[in-house]
Amino acid sequence: MKSSRRQILGGVGAIAASGVMTKARAAMGEVSLARLAQAKGVRFGAVAGIAKGGLHDWLMAGLLSTECAIVVPENEMKIYALRPEETGAFNFAPGDEIVAFAQTHTLAVRGHNLLWAKDKYLPKWLLAHDFGPRPKVAAEAFLRDHIARVCAHYGDAIVSWDVVNEAIDEKTGALRDTLFMRLLGQDYLRICFEAAREALPHTQLVYNDYMGWGGNNGAHRQGVLDLMHWFRDQKVPVDALGVQGHIGTEASGPAPTDGSAPDSLAWTRFLDANVAQDYGLLLTEFDVNDRKFEGDITARDAAVAHSGRAFLDVMLNYKQLKDVLCWGLCDRYSWLQSTTPRVDGARLRPTPYDEDFKPKPLRTAMADALRAAPQR
Ligand code: G3I
Repeated sequence: MKSSRRQILGGVGAIAASGVMTKARAAMGEVSLARLAQAKGVRFGAVAGIAKGGLHDWLMAGLLSTECAIVVPENEMKIYALRPEETGAFNFAPGDEIVAFAQTHTLAVRGHNLLWAKDKYLPKWLLAHDFGPRPKVAAEAFLRDHIARVCAHYGDAIVSWDVVNEAIDEKTGALRDTLFMRLLGQDYLRICFEAAREALPHTQLVYNDYMGWGGNNGAHRQGVLDLMHWFRDQKVPVDALGVQGHIGTEASGPAPTDGSAPDSLAWTRFLDANVAQDYGLLLTEFDVNDRKFEGDITARDAAVAHSGRAFLDVMLNYKQLKDVLCWGLCDRYSWLQSTTPRVDGARLRPTPYDEDFKPKPLRTAMADALRAAPQR
């Protein structure tokens, strides 16, 4: 892929900014999170987004290039971004820009996602599409064609794909009612992974979902586990489970009464049952939502760091976990700012760096968790 002027400038800016970051961290005697992770056989990274993800902010680009060994596009490879219209070419340029940024800084790239099994995130034209007199045949052909074209475009630049995202209803644990489920039944999941494997024989293929460790996530965990069993029973080529890791909705004070408090035993039983089927594990979208956390910034940051450390210790204890990615390295560009605002209107603080790119207690907690992690 030829680099555009913007990419070159972005790369130069990022290099300049990364120099700033590296000096700042050196002054603090800090090793990068990527280096700490690498020492244990883990790849550390984060989401990289263009629209609201800050990749055109040199400081954000610099932070990504100094802290990460892998990045994942936030929205740029999703079907609604690639194919906003029914006709016409795929809009690969934004995803290409992220891949070019990664290649400039020798970062690996995860792909996200080939199919988000939620009608809300399918283009309107697709939801309205007439699949003709033989809709099952046409729907399968559409899925296979879409996945083949996206996989062919990015090829080996992508080391791991979230092939299907969030196919399980978090409340019931049932397969979500979505377009391709209505057209093809559960087989749509097999079709997606087979199409990805056919296009990319050596790329890691992942099922990604946000089942959490809170006590009120039991149905979601069970539904995902049943699906992971089904993949194995049907010999569907799934290599790993992507645990998104959006934690923290439990309040920071006394144990919350909404059942959201972590249930570590249920969580480790869920992870054990997945790795027992020879699945790899990835932590794909880690952040700590502090919208319910009480107190001033010092108290909130301490609670975020405490929750984050506890979760990472459990996850990193699994040697099958080889990739840890944050869904945001910097509070300024976290998706949570626009989706789950705090009642008091204060900005959220869910990531390792604050609005001004200063490291927070969560970054220290993440570094400590990586230092304490067992070797892969
Ligand atoms: O770019 C358009 C802009 O042109 C338009 O004016 C604006 C108004 O609607 O929308 C902008 O697109 C938004 C896009 O983010 C880029 O900022 C979409 O509305 C918005 O829905 C989209 O949100 C993303 C969300 O996934 C849905 O795709 C978030 O940034 C992204 O962080 C979030 O990430 C998901 C993972 O993919 C899957 N796991 C959960 C995670 C959080 O929801």
